[in-house]
Amino acid sequence: MTTFAELYATYGVATPHELFDKLREDRPLEQVSLPNGVPLWLVTRYADCRQALGDARLSNRIGTRIVAQSELPAEIRASMGTHMLRVDGNDHTRLRRLVSSVFTARRIEKLRPMIEVMTSDLMDAMAAAAEPDLIHHLAFPLPMQVICELLGVPLADRERFRNWSNAYLAGVGTPNFPVQVVTEFVHYLRELVADKRQHPDDKLLSAMISARDNDDRLSETELTSMCFLLIIAGYETTVNLIGNGGQLLTTNPDLAARLRQDPEAIPAATEEFLRYESPVPGASFRVATETLELAGRTINEGELVLISLLSANRDGDVFDDPHELRIDRNPNPQMAFGYGMHYCLGAPLARLEAQIAFRQLLERFPKIERVDPEAELNWRPGIVMRGLTEFPVRLNQ
Ligand code: HEM
Repeated sequence: MTTFAELYATYGVATPHELFDKLREDRPLEQVSLPNGVPLWLVTRYADCRQALGDARLSNRIGTRIVAQSELPAEIRASMGTHMLRVDGNDHTRLRRLVSSVFTARRIEKLRPMIEVMTSDLMDAMAAAAEPDLIHHLAFPLPMQVICELLGVPLADRERFRNWSNAYLAGVGTPNFPVQVVTEFVHYLRELVADKRQHPDDKLLSAMISARDNDDRLSETELTSMCFLLIIAGYETTVNLIGNGGQLLTTNPDLAARLRQDPEAIPAATEEFLRYESPVPGASFRVATETLELAGRTINEGELVLISLLSANRDGDVFDDPHELRIDRNPNPQMAFGYGMHYCLGAPLARLEAQIAFRQLLERFPKIERVDPEAELNWRPGIVMRGLTEFPVRLNQ
């Protein structure tokens, strides 16, 4: 079974984009093994990814497959893995419906003034920093503040969240799954729920607790798991959108100048950043519930599938000059938020946060530049996120 490292070596390529170019051309459905030895099918063409995401025979209920080697206690595993992204059918509908009204485009738009103030405060802090860094001063804290505010989670705990979720995401699919970290995170969430039961507020977490306690619409495990999902999906992803987009704006001053002239074009540019450097490179793992055909090959019942959104979004069959960053690409059917019934619940929120962040960044720092333009970009470890660990800038105010 081929590992990702072997694939890079076979093709003599250095970046995931180069690798996916080869695979789409050569082996659009490839068997690969994760660093922890778990085998899966990798889907790389746009059309096949879309078909796979819409196929009910590819289930999200993968059980313990990916972390099978770890010693994660069953109750901890359940507390992180019974959320809407890990179930299908009626359970999925029930769990998604519980929170979906909070994330509609109309409800999210009401958060605009709050997010604008948060962003502006962060810009002030970045301007005052001795060593301003786009990730540290903007991309990380903004989504974290927003999701903590929405859920009603104490902001004081955000550094702990960051450490937990970074360690968790870096460990997925590796032999060193961070059992200790995940256990601590789940215990923290249980304490948080207990505390909110005592001191309810008008935020989302209290509303979920009331759905649990009053109408019995979700189990205690599902409640913890929903928090786990919303905190991780709600901020880690958007960190990468703001970070990747901010990096692209800083290193393409002509594009930045065009957007300063015409801020109305920022939403279309955001779609292009989502396509060009997709923050979530793959959909969550799927398992075949029966034998099926995809991309001219057979996937057997029980086999795992990884659908590459990063690859789909650079597919030349769908996007002209796919490796060119075109901020006015139209149409732009990017698939960075997935497709089908698990389509990202938080897409309106992620878009709003990113558009506000890009607009203020452009207005506030017309001469922003990278501290070391020649240095290699430091991408985050692991296969779950596509984003930078740091991006030091000079603001030249
Ligand atoms: C740029 C930012 C974001 C990206 C790129 C992104 C990407 C995705 C993708 C690709 C999926 C589908 C995964 C699959 O089918 O396996 C997804 C699902 C989901 N996302 Fe996001 N996401 C982002 C921001 C957010 C935010 C801000 C939230 C807020 C709470 C959020 C909450 C969710 C939830 C709850 C699901 C599961 C939906 C379901 O299973 O029905 N996401 N996201």
